[in-house]
Amino acid sequence: MTTAPATSLTVTRLGGRIGAVVEGVRLGGGLPPETVAAIRSHVLAHKVIFFRGQEHLDEESHEAFGRLLGTPVAHPTVPSADGRYAFPVDSEHGGRANQWHTDVTFVPAHPAFSILRAVTVPPYGGNTLWSNTAAAYASLAEPLRALADGLRAVHSNDFDYAAAHPDADSEQLARYREVFTSTKFRTEHPVVRVHPETGERILLLGNFVQRITGVPAKDSRLLIDLFQSHVERPENTVRWQWRTGDVALWDNRATQHYGVDDSDDHRRTLRRVTIDGDVPVGVDGRRSELLKPEEIPAPAFGLPSGATTAAA
Ligand SMILES: [Fe+2]
Repeated sequence: MTTAPATSLTVTRLGGRIGAVVEGVRLGGGLPPETVAAIRSHVLAHKVIFFRGQEHLDEESHEAFGRLLGTPVAHPTVPSADGRYAFPVDSEHGGRANQWHTDVTFVPAHPAFSILRAVTVPPYGGNTLWSNTAAAYASLAEPLRALADGLRAVHSNDFDYAAAHPDADSEQLARYREVFTSTKFRTEHPVVRVHPETGERILLLGNFVQRITGVPAKDSRLLIDLFQSHVERPENTVRWQWRTGDVALWDNRATQHYGVDDSDDHRRTLRRVTIDGDVPVGVDGRRSELLKPEEIPAPAFGLPSGATTAAA
């Protein structure tokens, strides 16, 4: 256990490579700058940090806390809840993310941070796992790191939902899919991204990946599975059992996550605020590129992903 001297925050690590519980803070929009700086450094170090007992948060104060870390952005296709920057994750509306993924990688400037707040927690199950994708890269043998460094991959939100969610109700799934893919995005990212704040090399993969550029489909699948298997190794992950009022804050540039779909028909609802990120840069300095459509369309509400990069 370590205590940050500048603030009253207490940090307890959950594993050797990822995850910590942070105590001693009531989240909201009015935190002093030194507390915000400490929270930022803890999430960069531990990749995902957890806060218990934040039941006082609502859509507005959740978003206000997010603004201390950057600029909230809307989901590219799914409308926000209540006209705010709070993306609904709801077991009743297709929101079962039981695939390893990094949020919104089908656009170039995918979010830097995601902040997820538990509203309704099922009586059992519904845990979320996160993986440290910098640790996954570091755990590769040197020749495999060199191979990954030179690859690029296409990510898309237009993938086979039925295959990804074999147990889901098909009508509900069809409706969710229609909304989720109302604009079909294709983005080419480097497979290895250099983190803009920590300088770490990280694997940028997950379930939106379709193909390694310039590699035939079968070899492409083998390569994706090879690198992705290191992301999914238990040593690189942490698992969180939600309670109502919990908040998870993660570095969406250095993690993947997975929502375990094992709560049967019990309802599970969470709200997620995402903070704008910048366009990934590979080891060779090449940036990610949007292949389709020509530009990110304006969302129904608020700023699109990459808004702050475009303005810079
Ligand atoms: Fe997610």
